[in-house]
Amino acid sequence: MSVENLEVRFGSSTVVKGISFDVPPGAVLGLVGESGSGKSTTARAIVGLTPSRGAIRIGELDLSAVSAGARRRGRRRVQMVFQDSRSSLDPRFTVAQCVAEGLPRFDRGRVTELLKLVSLDPGLQNSRPGQLSGGQRQRVAIARALAAEPDVLIADEVTASLDVSVQAVVLNLLRRLQRELGLTMLFISHNMAVVRYMADELAVMYGGRIVEHGPVQDVIDRPEDPYTRSLLAAIPEIGQRRLLADDDELALEAR
Ligand SMILES: Nc1ncnc2c1ncn2[C@@H]1O[C@H](COP(=O)(O)OP(=O)(O)OP(=O)(O)O)[C@@H](O)[C@H]1O
Ligand SMILES: [Mg+2]
Repeated sequence: MSVENLEVRFGSSTVVKGISFDVPPGAVLGLVGESGSGKSTTARAIVGLTPSRGAIRIGELDLSAVSAGARRRGRRRVQMVFQDSRSSLDPRFTVAQCVAEGLPRFDRGRVTELLKLVSLDPGLQNSRPGQLSGGQRQRVAIARALAAEPDVLIADEVTASLDVSVQAVVLNLLRRLQRELGLTMLFISHNMAVVRYMADELAVMYGGRIVEHGPVQDVIDRPEDPYTRSLLAAIPEIGQRRLLADDDELALEAR
């Protein structure tokens, strides 16, 4: 995925100020930055939930240049999982109906496969989102996103509303799926330890701009921008002790 000069305005205020970045196929770009810096707006612009200017390309497809119909089809190639699955899943739908929203038509067999893919008991498919735990709901949201067979998955603070122990399980699931399916991913989080676990590259947003972008460990070890330095300095654990294991088990102290 390639984003070039992306700009988002709300009235007279420009909240995303012409940012550009590439995420190579199968790579994970972590996006961090203070509250209000424009991370979610960037994500929403990419999936087409917010009008924007600039170019968004998925492989050869230029989402800004094609017709409305082609754009809708193109947008299916980018799916998003939100922070709060309580509001992103329709409470009147069953789990199966929620997942099937991502399918061209309802297909019970495919729904069952998708539930298994995210390690959810297919016996839950007639439950309503409100009857599930937060972690189970996020799995449903992930299954719905994967139902569309996207090339790009955008995860915006997907574990922020979960308990620490459940966060680790959902992150491990996401990382496993990202690798198995070769998904290209934009992973937004406040938590530097979590981003370090998930991402190959790290971009830092500040005031609607990307002020730093590079391989995660390089940015953490040698931040060049003053804002990135202050961001890292505010997290005493970074650089002092390893927060996360390199293997598949995410250390629970990651919060
Ligand atoms: N629909 C909207 N109308 C007007 N302003 C908006 C709208 N959505 C977002 N903004 C403003 O755009 C700016 C960026 O918001 P955004 O939600 O992208 O930040 P963020 O980096 O995701 O923050 P957080 O870390 O808190 O999630 C903020 O100043 C916000 O108030
Ligand atoms: Mg946000």
